[in-house]
Amino acid sequence: MKRVALGVAAAICLAVAACGGSDDGDGGATKSAAGGGTTVSGAKVIDPNSMNSPPKGTITYCAGKDTTGAQAEVIKEFEAKYGASGYNVKMLEFPTSGDEQRAQFVQRQEAKSDECDVFSSDVIWTAEFARQKWLYDLTPYVSKQRSRFIAAPLETVHYGDQYWGVPFESAAALLYYRDDQVKTPPATWQAVYQDAKANDGIVYQGAAYEGLTCDYLELAFAAGGKVLSDDGKKSLINSPQNVKALQLMVDGVKDGTAANGVTTYMEEESRRYWESGKATFMRNWPYAYVLGQMKSTKVAGKFKVMPFPTFDGGGTASILGGHNIVISVYSKNPGLGLKFADFYASPDWQKTQVIKYAITGTIPEAYDDPAVKKAIPYAPELKKAVEQAKSRPVSPVYPQISQAIYNNVNAALSGKTSPQDALKTADEQINQALKTF
Ligand code: GLC
Repeated sequence: MKRVALGVAAAICLAVAACGGSDDGDGGATKSAAGGGTTVSGAKVIDPNSMNSPPKGTITYCAGKDTTGAQAEVIKEFEAKYGASGYNVKMLEFPTSGDEQRAQFVQRQEAKSDECDVFSSDVIWTAEFARQKWLYDLTPYVSKQRSRFIAAPLETVHYGDQYWGVPFESAAALLYYRDDQVKTPPATWQAVYQDAKANDGIVYQGAAYEGLTCDYLELAFAAGGKVLSDDGKKSLINSPQNVKALQLMVDGVKDGTAANGVTTYMEEESRRYWESGKATFMRNWPYAYVLGQMKSTKVAGKFKVMPFPTFDGGGTASILGGHNIVISVYSKNPGLGLKFADFYASPDWQKTQVIKYAITGTIPEAYDDPAVKKAIPYAPELKKAVEQAKSRPVSPVYPQISQAIYNNVNAALSGKTSPQDALKTADEQINQALKTF
């Protein structure tokens, strides 16, 4: 694999107030919204020993579309180890869009269905699912393992005083750029747009879904903006900093710097556009690296990756992404679910998933191991990015908050409304959502 230049912006989030620690989410909002030290009562609690000899059988792992093949392989490896003892896993593939994955899971949990024993849950859903009492409380298992995990991903399964999942994927997005077109990596987002305009443009996730919330907040947080007040009770989305960030994106669509269909693109559409050689820059998660270097693409050997630059007049920020294994309270075999979750977070699998699929992990070995560093030379920077990435607001009504962001940002990008009006509407909708819990 070609060595990639990532040393550049050395310290991601360098000395920037907007780049909070791993657990602060949107300022202090996380702490108060995350349960304020209270306990979610009445949840079913896992017996950590149940994974040692659970009833034989097959559990169903529900997860988004297996675009890399990593999920099929984790199942294969799990079965290679435990299949002979009678333990199997089958996968139920949900759509690529995170919002649709959530909708599929929610539908089953509302019906008290046992179809999904375990679910690949986005880092942003813990609060909502825990409050709905849809998940096993995994505290007795996780509390013994806390020191194994990197703090930021561990915090994403923490809600109230309990732990609701096993973190297996933690990600901070990267800026991919064509080094045959751009010689010096741009230092600011504004310069990225200028270089993109002078070359073949930029592609990112502009469709009205969770991905756009991430793409927008990366710029907005870097510009110094926030989503919620420190106590988590009030929207702060309608700020001059947030307008500035949105204006940059809107201008990019208007003057043709952003890919033509960007307002309809999710991760996979962006990746395909990029791989066909049509863009100079792409914002995407690390998984697109290994796929982009495959010979079948038009960009293999012609690109590098860099951490996000600063926002002129502001700082640098990235958003923490990733997934956790959660166990449904309606599962008939939670012990086997825990066995699978434990395997997913094991050092062996964590290393394999990053080496083969560039799916970044949740334990230090997934970055520090020499074999990982050889395969992914920018692993140390990825680890730093994950450690320093900012959380999206932690709230049981997070889905509504995010919808208010992505629907209005998308309307501005599509030219249906101005950045100012879009954020004014988002502000009203977020405040409305906050009143409902
Ligand atoms: C990735 C991230 C996830 C994020 C989603 C948005 O899957 O891991 O946290 O919500 O992208 O599309």
